[in-house]
Amino acid sequence: MNSSSLQILPDTDAGYTRAADLWRAGGLVAFPTETVYGLGADACNDHAVARIYEAKGRPSFNPLIVHFADLNAVKQHVTWTAEADGLAQAFWPGPLTLVLPKKPDSPISKLVTAGLETLAVRLPAHGPARALLKTFGGPVAAPSANRSGQISPTQPSHVVDGLTGRIDAVLDGGRCDVGVESTIVGLADRPVLLRPGGVTEEQLTACLGHPIAVRKNAEAISAPGQLMSHYAPNAAVRLNATDWQDGELCLGFGAVECDLNLSADGDLVEAASHLFEYLHQLDAKGGAVIAVSPIPHHGLGVAINDRLSRAAAPREG
Ligand code: TXA
Ligand code: MG
Repeated sequence: MNSSSLQILPDTDAGYTRAADLWRAGGLVAFPTETVYGLGADACNDHAVARIYEAKGRPSFNPLIVHFADLNAVKQHVTWTAEADGLAQAFWPGPLTLVLPKKPDSPISKLVTAGLETLAVRLPAHGPARALLKTFGGPVAAPSANRSGQISPTQPSHVVDGLTGRIDAVLDGGRCDVGVESTIVGLADRPVLLRPGGVTEEQLTACLGHPIAVRKNAEAISAPGQLMSHYAPNAAVRLNATDWQDGELCLGFGAVECDLNLSADGDLVEAASHLFEYLHQLDAKGGAVIAVSPIPHHGLGVAINDRLSRAAAPREG
């Protein structure tokens, strides 16, 4: 990627084909939806998903929404329920995201869910978004296409201003109609409105036939990294380990001997792409302690260290 360029792709079949090819090659392509522009990558490609977090400059791994072209594809990745069906019938395609249990055999990157066992799924209504997703033919992970802390982009120039030099391309689909992000409804348990958005609470209540619970904790909504606190390895986690003690499972970084190495070359994007998968694999060995090499605290290292310090925090209960 040329650091001064960002390809602007036309809203045509040729543009969709080029964008889909970039996704297949692990690239980052921003695309319009009816709500805001999303920063898309192949949801099954760990490295591409790690690049999303890097491009946004997020200091922590927020779980990402996965976008699909059709309902049957969604059902391959999550456990579908009657309530999901009712809401999907009423509001899909459209500005509604559903959070459902992820199927254990789904090939979606663990970095997309930041280690959670639920997956946020959405079927956008926007014509070019649907055409592009159909051309690609697989799930696309996409947060809003802005740098962390900046406002959400509703036209291509916002994406160009915020992300030039950090992503490969933007599909130019003009201005987004809705302008606020999708409504997020959690369905892993009883229905909960997790984030207000394009579909209103009244519309949801009318569809469900009863009032929907609303998550009151505004902080949990604006800082959803906290959602991850319930996911921690069974093993204790020892950070900044410069030597390994007997019986420890060793998660290395850089040129060290270890059980699994986040990146032998010391590449932070590669390390992020392996983080959740490797924690999971080491934990499955059933040891008492996972020791982790020091991770440099810059770039994606900040998000990696955030996640590791959560995993190492004293457990409640
Ligand atoms: O309209 C939208 O939803 C846009 C367009 C691009 O689709 N996307 C968007 O993504 O707003 P983002 O990353 O800016 O916001 C995603 C939100 C985050 O607050 C995140 O915590 C929540 O979705 N989320 C994702 N997966 C979740 C999960 N498994 N459980 C709970 N919340 C989840
Ligand atoms: Mg956002």
